[in-house]
Amino acid sequence: MERYDFDAPVDRRGSHSMKFDAAAAMGKREGLLSMWVADMDFTVPPAVVEALHQRVDHAVFGYTNPWDGYREAVVSWMARYGWQVSPNWIVPTPGVVFALAMAVRAFTEPGDAVVIQRPVYYPFTNVIERNGRRVANAPLAYQDGIYSIDFDALEQTIQESGAKLFLLCNPHNPGGRLWTRDELARIAEIALRNDVIVVSDEIHMDFVRPGYEHTVFATLDDQIAQRCVVCTAASKTFNLAGLETSNIIIPNGELRRVFKDAMHATGTNRPNVLGLVATEACYRQGAEWLAQLKKYLEGNWALVESYLAEHAPQLHLVPAQSTYLAWVDCRELGLYGEDLRALIEDEAGLWLDLGDMFGPEGDGFIRLNLATQRATVQRALTQLTDAIARM
Ligand SMILES: Cc1ncc(COP(=O)(O)O)c(C=O)c1O
Repeated sequence: MERYDFDAPVDRRGSHSMKFDAAAAMGKREGLLSMWVADMDFTVPPAVVEALHQRVDHAVFGYTNPWDGYREAVVSWMARYGWQVSPNWIVPTPGVVFALAMAVRAFTEPGDAVVIQRPVYYPFTNVIERNGRRVANAPLAYQDGIYSIDFDALEQTIQESGAKLFLLCNPHNPGGRLWTRDELARIAEIALRNDVIVVSDEIHMDFVRPGYEHTVFATLDDQIAQRCVVCTAASKTFNLAGLETSNIIIPNGELRRVFKDAMHATGTNRPNVLGLVATEACYRQGAEWLAQLKKYLEGNWALVESYLAEHAPQLHLVPAQSTYLAWVDCRELGLYGEDLRALIEDEAGLWLDLGDMFGPEGDGFIRLNLATQRATVQRALTQLTDAIARM
């Protein structure tokens, strides 16, 4: 069996990557150790490079429709989660955030409210507000270092705002929670009772950590499957974000039609051929690579946990059940907003996502992307804890 070496350094500078080549454009100083945006510093499975090479060697890149093999590969990947998907439910889109925006346009009118649970991945807010809709925030509860859902408050938010759409993040970015089947069932009950469509963003589904199980929202029961949109992609799992391809799965024919109409209204009709080639290759041939990657990431998690406990006990790593994003509660330092930014960037020399980007509930937290070589994680931890020691 081929062994993949995730410790091998990968120099991404000069590849136009957002993470390594966009500091000046994004108002950051050069030289920061970059661990913000959620892509990985690892090369993709060799079989994916091979599949792309083969397609590139054909040397013609005309308009292309999604083909059966791509759909079958998505169907078989979803079967890993006990979900029987019909091939025609799959709508490829240029990204999950694009799909969230399309859902907002398809299923609501300008001025309508859309429910989200902050702190949450900031494009959730953007796709609502930039389409002239209102955010109805039902913040997650945070107690004893763990996030949970206040179901009464969620239902109250839905009823008071009149929202008919809920953007759910499962697994939750940045809180790291993987919602249990029971929690999802309660969400489904509330959604059905209040006639709400649920868009479940499951882009991080494959990073479920040992001891946990990912439940696809649509597998709860047939009734909720008919009222939801599930967003999946190989992009996060296999590091294909630049190929801008995702698989949006919509079991209900009418919801699918309305969603596609919204998409076609933007002039977006056909997917990127290389994105589909790579997606198919990942789902067919990437399972072993992913299994080894996840083991490696466990080592990174263990390092962060033990190093922070020893060198910066004021920082609390929120236990992640999925994703490769470490969400760290720094509030014991007493630094918020600009003061926390100054510590992280000016003193520690790190470029991270600061918690307040995810909503005011995230202020005082930081998010570190652990999908990188262990030596880089160690360097970041040393820079961070040294800066705190100098405070
Ligand atoms: C929850 C979540 N959804 C969507 C995305 C991005 O998806 P895409 O690049 O397909 O738009 C991310 C990336 O970090 C994410 O964390």
